[in-house]
Amino acid sequence: MSDRETLLKILDLARWAPSGDNSQPWRFEIVADDHIAIHGFDTRDHVLYDFEGHPSHMSHGALLETLRIAATAFGLDASWTLRPGTSDARPVYDVVLRQRSDPAADPLFPHIEPRVVQRRPMHTTPLTRMQRDALAAAPGPGYEVQFFESFAERLKVARLLWDNAYIRLTCPEAFEVHREIIEWGARYSKDRIPERAVGVDPATAKLMKWVMRSWPRVEFFNRYLLGTVPPRVQLDFLPALACAAHVLLRPRAPLADVADYVAGGVALQRLWLTATSVGLHLQPEMTPVIFRWYSRSGKSFSGVAEINERARALAGDFEALAGARESDDFVFFCRVGVSSVPASRSHRLSLAELMAEGASARS
Ligand SMILES: Cc1cc2nc3c(=O)[nH]c(=O)nc-3n(C[C@H](O)[C@H](O)[C@H](O)COP(=O)(O)O)c2cc1C
Repeated sequence: MSDRETLLKILDLARWAPSGDNSQPWRFEIVADDHIAIHGFDTRDHVLYDFEGHPSHMSHGALLETLRIAATAFGLDASWTLRPGTSDARPVYDVVLRQRSDPAADPLFPHIEPRVVQRRPMHTTPLTRMQRDALAAAPGPGYEVQFFESFAERLKVARLLWDNAYIRLTCPEAFEVHREIIEWGARYSKDRIPERAVGVDPATAKLMKWVMRSWPRVEFFNRYLLGTVPPRVQLDFLPALACAAHVLLRPRAPLADVADYVAGGVALQRLWLTATSVGLHLQPEMTPVIFRWYSRSGKSFSGVAEINERARALAGDFEALAGARESDDFVFFCRVGVSSVPASRSHRLSLAELMAEGASARS
């Protein structure tokens, strides 16, 4: 039977789930010895990338799947439901725990803590058949898993990400977000992305930090000093070539509501943990997916018309690359490859800070 101590141990593991910009859009409440409530929230009011809260909904899914996997190691089955009547912006998930008949822990359990984002160039060693098959099966039957593996395909993705990064770096609304999410000078960060996990060399990081103190500085650099070139080369173009493959998750049914994005998050975490289990690192490449969400729903994300126009063109290029129609949904895009373990990573808020009772700042 479960008890509070066991539930705390499970939550302590579950909090290692990934979330966009390490936002950890969740707070935990232990309701009873067999019942946890996850209080989700999103960051759409101040984070341009959190389109209609969907990346946060995906993070909720990643958390719920991590919690489910962690529970198996304690002989428990965890099943969750979205609490009826809760809003998209603050969904509550009720997780019920029951004794498990199978004594074995889920095979993905050992990979919960070692899973980490790798933003630096990886080896180009091709995927083995075993790795590709494992990745293709990981998200389950609801998703088509599309691979871009050859040099020519990776080059096409590199070009897409090059154009994508131009949008990211010249968009004033995105600047505010980038400024908030990097913890400068840090190797670890409990609630943001530490500078050294960003993926640029120390000289570029120093320059970025200085330039990013004000938007006029960024604009000046971009306009007169080719300011977007060094970060685009280091963060987008080279990593896009330096990997084994890019992987696109395409849901077989249209994404209609919050539950579909939560399911997308379950799928992405299964893909990521599986990648870790077969010796691969992974980096999400979500911004082209997010810009496409905006474009295809006819919404603008910038006050600068040219930026929205570029995002529309990018959506078309992404569809051409994937052989998709405008109406087809994409839910997750990433690159995978063999690499050493990153020397820097995001940490997490403590369990005490994540308990709903102690959460005042964000929930
Ligand atoms: C929905 C979602 C979207 C993400 N998008 C990106 C992305 O576009 N680029 C990137 O480098 N990392 C992305 N990440 C990775 C997070 O930044 C990362 O998981 C978080 O900072 C915690 O770090 P960790 O995964 O190393 O524990 C994304 C993660 C999630 C769950």
